[in-house]
Amino acid sequence: MHVFKALVASAAFTGLALAGPLTLRQTDSKLKIMPLGDSITEITCWRAFVWDQIAETGYADKVRYVGSQNSNPQNCKPKTANWDEHHEGHSGWLAIDIANRYLETWLKNTPADIVMFMLGTNDVFQGHSTDDIIAAYTKMVNIMRASNPKMKIIVDLVIPLGVGSSSGITALNARIPDWAKNLNSTDSPIVIVDCNTGFPTSDLRDGVHPNIAGDQILASRIGPALLNYINESLAATAA
Ligand SMILES: *[C@@H]1O[C@H](CO)[C@@H](O)[C@H](O)[C@H]1NC(C)=O
Ligand SMILES: *[C@@H]1O[C@H](CO)[C@@H](O)[C@H](O)[C@H]1NC(C)=O
Repeated sequence: MHVFKALVASAAFTGLALAGPLTLRQTDSKLKIMPLGDSITEITCWRAFVWDQIAETGYADKVRYVGSQNSNPQNCKPKTANWDEHHEGHSGWLAIDIANRYLETWLKNTPADIVMFMLGTNDVFQGHSTDDIIAAYTKMVNIMRASNPKMKIIVDLVIPLGVGSSSGITALNARIPDWAKNLNSTDSPIVIVDCNTGFPTSDLRDGVHPNIAGDQILASRIGPALLNYINESLAATAA
């Protein structure tokens, strides 16, 4: 380690171009995970509870969350005080708009190795068809893969609604398995996390957003899939 430091120091001192790439490699070596979604990603605590799982598994210094946002609006207090608060959760936003207008830029600004997303609730609220939401999902996957051909993708079945009609959410969730299977690939796998089955609407604090018990359910479902991806990615890097 001392030898390495001395090398960098002497390279910098003598003005060798070598110092640039060495520095880049060092700062960019962590696995980058983008939590992508709407308010169910932004103003909730499951991201924090998943970070606890990351820390407990010994991955905290090997990964980071990425995204244009860096916030903890619910003042979540996971066990890991210094959890990474970066994310790409945007309250009220539609999958359709994120696909058509934003995701390409976000991934350009904060590239990712793994994207985990839950989207569609706001599209359903605004009366968009399941076909249109699924088309947005496809566009998002294409953008993710254009950004990183080896992108690992987690798609969540959307949590239930405690207000209004559930038929849009039910229809979307019913389409996701075949959609994911058709787009799946070895280089860029898509895994489904079921955040819907057995999620009681009593664990929604306002009919839409999970309360702490709901966040714990989400973390217990999303965390293992993410840890599995992290494990695979670190093994591939080490090989
Ligand atoms: C996609 O393929 C991976 C294996 O590469 C598998 O684990 C996963 O379940 C598949 N996803 C779907 C939706 O079939
Ligand atoms: C991945 O998981 C396997 C099986 O649990 C474990 O033996 C291995 O150490 C893990 N690798 C990393 C990099 O965490």
